[in-house]
Parts: sequence; C-alpha cells; structure tokens
Amino acid sequence: MTMTTTNYDDVISARARELDISGIRKVFELGAKLRDPINFSIGQPNFPVPDSIKQAAINAINSDRNGYTLTQGIPELRRVVSQRLLEDVVWETPSDELGLIITSGTNGGLFLSCLAMLNPGDEVIIPDPYFVVYPAMATMAGATAKLCNTYPDFRMTAQRVEPLITDRTKFVLLNSPSNPSGVVLSNQEMQELAELCERRGVLIVSDEIYDEFTYSDAKEDGRCPSPARYSQNMILIRGYGKTYGCTGWRLGYAAGPKVIIDQMQKLQQYTFVCAPSMAQAGVVGAFEVDMREQVKAYQRKRDMVEQAFDGIASIVHPGGAFYAFVEVPEILEETATGFVERAIENNVLLIPGCVFSSRDTHFRLSYAVEDRTLERGLEVLRGLMKA
Ligand SMILES: Cc1ncc(COP(=O)(O)O)c(C=O)c1O
Repeated sequence: MTMTTTNYDDVISARARELDISGIRKVFELGAKLRDPINFSIGQPNFPVPDSIKQAAINAINSDRNGYTLTQGIPELRRVVSQRLLEDVVWETPSDELGLIITSGTNGGLFLSCLAMLNPGDEVIIPDPYFVVYPAMATMAGATAKLCNTYPDFRMTAQRVEPLITDRTKFVLLNSPSNPSGVVLSNQEMQELAELCERRGVLIVSDEIYDEFTYSDAKEDGRCPSPARYSQNMILIRGYGKTYGCTGWRLGYAAGPKVIIDQMQKLQQYTFVCAPSMAQAGVVGAFEVDMREQVKAYQRKRDMVEQAFDGIASIVHPGGAFYAFVEVPEILEETATGFVERAIENNVLLIPGCVFSSRDTHFRLSYAVEDRTLERGLEVLRGLMKA
C-alpha cells in the first residue's frame, strides 16, 4: 500500500465510502450562507430541558458521579424504564425472556441492533421515505436496506412489507410516528405487521423515538400505538432526546429478546461502553415530568401547517412527531430539490425529500419552531407555491 500525506484514498474503507451525506450537506452549506434563516430543517424540539431534569444531571456531576456506569445502565434508571414498559406494553424487563439496555441515544440502540443481528448479505426492510440513518446503519453492518414504498399515504402495512420478505430478511425497521412524514400507524396495522413477521420468522425493530409526540387524534386508548402490544419478537427502541429536549445528551433504551439484548450489551461494552453517566442520572425522574403542554403546543403547530397548505399542497395528516412531508404541487413542475433551493433563496430552510427517499417529490418541514417564525415561514412557502 502506498500512502502520501495528501492522499488517503487507499486507507478509507469501502464501508465509509459507500455512505453518502451529500444531500444533507448541501442544505447545510446553502443554509450556512443565510444570515438569520427561518429554519424548518432542524429535527429537535425548541423547548428547554425541564428544570428538574437539568438539576438531576447537575447534581450527579457535582456529587462526582462522573465515571463509567454499568454497561446496561444505572440501576435506578433501569428500574423506572422497566416500570414504564410494564405499564405501557406489558413487558417484564429484565426477565428470563426479555432484556433491557440503556443506550447512547436512540441511534445507539439502532446501531447495536444492526451489529448484533446483521451479517454481510442480510437484508433489512425499511420504509421509503425513511429516517436518513436507516440505510446507512444497514450499510455499516454490511447488509442491504430494501425500501418499502409507502407512497402516497406513508403507511408501512403488512401488505406492503410481505412481498419484500426473502430468506435473507433479518428484520423490518418500523418507525411510527415517522420521520419524515409524522404518520402514525394504528394498533390494527401494528398487529397485522407483527403477525406477518411472526409467521415469516423475521423480527421487527420498532423505532419509537417520537412516542410521546403522538397527538390526540392518533392515540389509541390514550397511548401511542406499538407493535410491542402484539409481539415480543422485536426490539423496542425509545429515546429521551426529543421528548425532553435533550438531544445532545445521547440517551435512549432498547428492550427485546434477552439473547439479542445480551449481544447488544457485549457490543456496547466494546464500543460506547455506556450511555453518558450524568444524562442517565438526569432522566431518572423524567417520566414524572408533565410534558402535555409542550406536546399540545406542537399539535397546534401541526394544525397551523395543515391549514396553511390547505388547497395549495397535499400533506398526509401527521399524527405525531414534529414534521410534515409536503408534496410539491404538480403545477410547479419542479423537483423537491428545486423547490427547496428556491425556499432557501427566500431564507427558509427545508430538507428535500430525496434525502429521505428514492423520490424527490416532497420536502420535510420541521415545525419545532416559535409560532411567529412558523407563520412567517409558511407565508413565504405559500407564496412560492402560488408563483
Ligand atoms: C426516527 C428517528 N430515529 C432515531 C433518531 C436519533 O435519535 P437520537 O438522537 O436519540 O439518537 C432520530 C433523530 O432525528 C429520528 O428522527
């Protein structure tokens, strides 16, 4: 191998080379040139971390709890997560069958799931449109992401998934409420998908990071629908970052068959080691914090978005998360990238659908911004659509 200080081509792995971040980078580069953009591109809440959660993390730091924690997470946090899973999906964790691990963000849980289950050549079924990291996670594990076309209603139903299952399929990656569409599947759809997967011997990995951002019209029995109510043949992954506005704290958890969680724990030991110690201590009391006002405010913002585009552009009703996936009106005869470039010229940052999809027909709008900013941005976009 020849190597110079200016050419590292031979050093970079095929795995790294295969990952493409050019779509997002382009938006960020264009956005960086703007002075004070109306930023609808950000995937995080705009409210501060509740004081009691901040204080618990500060207390942990000040009382010198800054060392490694147990790989699987601190006992007091594991206890409250276990209790939550028992109440919400009637899972007993940890038990002989089911394991539980606190992870470095939801992404940490997703990545460990991939490392624990995927061999080169394996297949994972993911929705199209998808959260950007899903295909990358499969690639990093040497596997292939097979796209399940969910257009035009963005519902990853059993009917759509079934034809994609092959001998190489390891799991179906489900994300409800969805990024980028905000669509929430019903319990009935979850049950059908869970039954299909049981029948065909594949697992579900359910990314439920937006579970708390399920709006009243999409909730069933007052809760976010989940396949975990119908199957334990799955990895259930949830997080703290979005719900409590602490995305930088890198905290989530994963539960599922003990044999798989044990492997994930081994892989965490050799990679992340543990989730951040002060963040774990910070969220021990989080489930007691009432976030209903914040969620209600986001539901109102969701309504503002739907009203703004009413009769102008089509949006599939987002039952959760804080995104709308808006179709660029056909009469404009332009791609989503083209529309997004025009929006950016007009100081509004969006993400074109091609970043999340094989198609470039929609854009993602994150409405996790102040009402006034949302109103101003929506006015600009309406103007661009009428042009
Ligand atoms: C669907 C989905 N899953 C996972 C993540 C990553 O979450 P975390 O910051 O907890 O790793 C995100 C973040 O945007 C997301 O939208």
